[in-house]
Amino acid sequence: MRLDRLVGKWAGTGKRRTREFFKNGEVLLNGERAERGGLVIGKFDRVELAGEVVQDRRPRYVMLHKPRGVVSATLDEEHVTVTDLVDQEWAGELHLAGRLDRYTSGLVILTNDSAYSESLTAPEQKVGKRYLVGLDGVMGEEVISGLQAGMWFAKEQVMTEPALLDLLSPQECRLTIYEGKHHQIKRMFARYDLRVTQLHREAIGTQELPSDLGPGEWREFHPESS
Ligand code: URA
Repeated sequence: MRLDRLVGKWAGTGKRRTREFFKNGEVLLNGERAERGGLVIGKFDRVELAGEVVQDRRPRYVMLHKPRGVVSATLDEEHVTVTDLVDQEWAGELHLAGRLDRYTSGLVILTNDSAYSESLTAPEQKVGKRYLVGLDGVMGEEVISGLQAGMWFAKEQVMTEPALLDLLSPQECRLTIYEGKHHQIKRMFARYDLRVTQLHREAIGTQELPSDLGPGEWREFHPESS
């Protein structure tokens, strides 16, 4: 957004009066006198007018251990949502960087930084999401090679990237997928008449769910430092 628009909107002033604020040196951008109203600023830039704060939002990055039963939404009239669990006044600023189904548990990332969430969710980024999967039946060779080869999803008209599969037992595996299609893992196994009985997300890209973060708990992190 243009700096003069933000300031004018906040102060409720017209173009001429807003220009005067800049001429008089009353506008500070990140602590420095701002002279050019036409400058395009980001939502995390700090803006002051005559000593009052116009905008001062900081980027937030939250990792949350979503328990089963909680919905991956910011608002829901019936169910507890992931943002309900972040009991902070700034929780309303957050959006999800990739959802989990209601009965899937594990790592959910919430942020107010859309560039960061896009870096995790945009299909071309091919960020791996690792899950622990439990099944109601045995995974045969056909299932394993099918998942590893990639799969055609007709509804979305996409071929999935080859999944990484690490067999833990005949009915349990670690699976890394590179998309976030609706019910993707359940749909993948359903092709082979297998039902997913347990699904838990352990990691999104380089972000691992910390072992000391219990169901329902969350913490802030900084993407570069983790
Ligand atoms: N695949 C699913 O089926 N559900 C999820 O929540 C995530 C991946």
